[in-house]
Amino acid sequence: MERAAAERRERPAYGKDSLISCDRLVRIFTADGVEVQALQGLDLLVAQGELMALVGASGSGKSTLLNILAGLDVPTAGAASVGGYDLLAMDAAARLRYRREIVGFVWQQTARNLLPYLTAAQNVVLPMQLAARGSGPRTRRKRAARAAELLDMLGVGYCHDRRPAQMSGGEQQRAAIAVALANDPAVVLADEPTGELDSATGEQVFAAFRTANEELGTTVVVVTHDHAVADAVRRTVAIRDGRTASEVVRRTEVDEHGQESVVAREYATVDRAGRLQLPRDYTDALDIRSRVLLELEPDHIGVWPDLPQDRAERPGDPK
Ligand SMILES: Nc1ncnc2c1ncn2[C@@H]1O[C@H](COP(=O)(O)OP(=O)(O)OP(=O)(O)O)[C@@H](O)[C@H]1O
Ligand SMILES: [Mg+2]
Repeated sequence: MERAAAERRERPAYGKDSLISCDRLVRIFTADGVEVQALQGLDLLVAQGELMALVGASGSGKSTLLNILAGLDVPTAGAASVGGYDLLAMDAAARLRYRREIVGFVWQQTARNLLPYLTAAQNVVLPMQLAARGSGPRTRRKRAARAAELLDMLGVGYCHDRRPAQMSGGEQQRAAIAVALANDPAVVLADEPTGELDSATGEQVFAAFRTANEELGTTVVVVTHDHAVADAVRRTVAIRDGRTASEVVRRTEVDEHGQESVVAREYATVDRAGRLQLPRDYTDALDIRSRVLLELEPDHIGVWPDLPQDRAERPGDPK
């Protein structure tokens, strides 16, 4: 017991090396006297430099989570931190600084990302002005150069002097990514950024996120219903009923002929209390309802439905 306690003490704190850490995050909305538990103890860790996707049914809590990470909403309980900022304890000044300098955000609605009366370049310069320290012609030149560079990098340099109305939806979203990157944030969050686009345009927009991730090292978290996006990242985390339920991790493997292929594995999430959510098709297939029998084996755990005949036949069961 002492050894177990010592091991527990030596285990690093939860989320210590992660850029984003959500620990038993809860968000309860009250509307017209009815409580909605949008997040019900959600755990999530995202490493610095990751490009990852969040998926889940409508109403599962994806936007709620993203709004909290963006500093636009405050959780009801639990803990959340991004880049060392404690999202529950920030005062108004810290929150403003956090939103201007640590996170960038891209919304689904193209019109929400850019100001209609400014050109693409002016839209990118704006967040730099808002976060401003210093002004003068040199600063102005530097900002203009950075805006042009970002637009070029994301493949929309030719939209430099166009207003949003003169750009396609995909061009607007790529310009929006440039706006999100303007102050060199640690994280860019995007809520269904390709939701209003056809699949070919959506792919271009996703490629722009990948460019930002690879060229600038920006951590990118994208909420998406788009399979092309969800399948193109290393890690896709699925949210179910306000909790992280499972994740798919993709690895590139090289076979003996030097042929590269992507191997995807699906993992179930085990939360910090040891809770595991069984996939619904598994529980349905074995008619598992309120409880199961567990058995610890040397290298796995057996899970049996609580049915008398199964119990009698189960190997290793006391006769
Ligand atoms: N401001 C709010 N007031 C009351 N309830 C809310 C509020 N925002 C979200 N909810 C509720 O919280 C739950 C989660 O909503 P959320 O928007 O996070 O889902 P989502 O996963 O983003 O869904 P979608 O895929 O449709 O965008 C839903 O039941 C929703 O009705
Ligand atoms: Mg949503």
